[in-house]
Amino acid sequence: EQDPRIEGIASTIRVVPDFPKPGIMFQDITTLLLDPKAFKNTVDLFVERYTGKDITVVAGIEARGFIFGPPIALAIGAKFVPLRKPRKLPGEVISEEYVLEYGTDCLQMHIGAVQPGDRALVVDDLIATGGTLCAAIKLLERAGAEVVECACVIELPELKAFYLHFSSAKCEVLDWD
Ligand code: PRP
Repeated sequence: EQDPRIEGIASTIRVVPDFPKPGIMFQDITTLLLDPKAFKNTVDLFVERYTGKDITVVAGIEARGFIFGPPIALAIGAKFVPLRKPRKLPGEVISEEYVLEYGTDCLQMHIGAVQPGDRALVVDDLIATGGTLCAAIKLLERAGAEVVECACVIELPELKAFYLHFSSAKCEVLDWD
């Protein structure tokens, strides 16, 4: 049975047709952020799921993982590490390229931010193909961390807002429970 808060959260997410290009139904979480109850419920659902799991690092994916990741990290007592697009981080980095519909993109992480033995949660707003999350998992595993789970607010292609986790070993989407 679905948590009653999820429907309320889903109703605050605005779908913008044909953004940023024709045919794309953009899932806009800025309208979720305008609703303090929905924003709090979103963070609370993740915090409830990840409290007591010995997670030591929350890795947030640029850009919207930087919105949902830090409040989760603070609440569960983990450090926050940003996974950024190229040429944004000033220190030494490791990089992971991933394939997009057209061309490739890349995520980078500061060397030393994550250590062997760290237990990681990856946070982003949305999973579509899963390519971005897979690149994040590879970065963290290269640094010696164990990826416990990935958490997103929205899963495509169902175009509905709900919570899910992601098995790092299998790189497949699992149901929330
Ligand atoms: C979106 C979204 C995820 C990614 C998911 O980011 O926020 O990070 O796409 O897609 P995937 O599962 O197919 O990899 P976007 O590429 O729009 O970058 P931005 O957050 O920097 O705008």
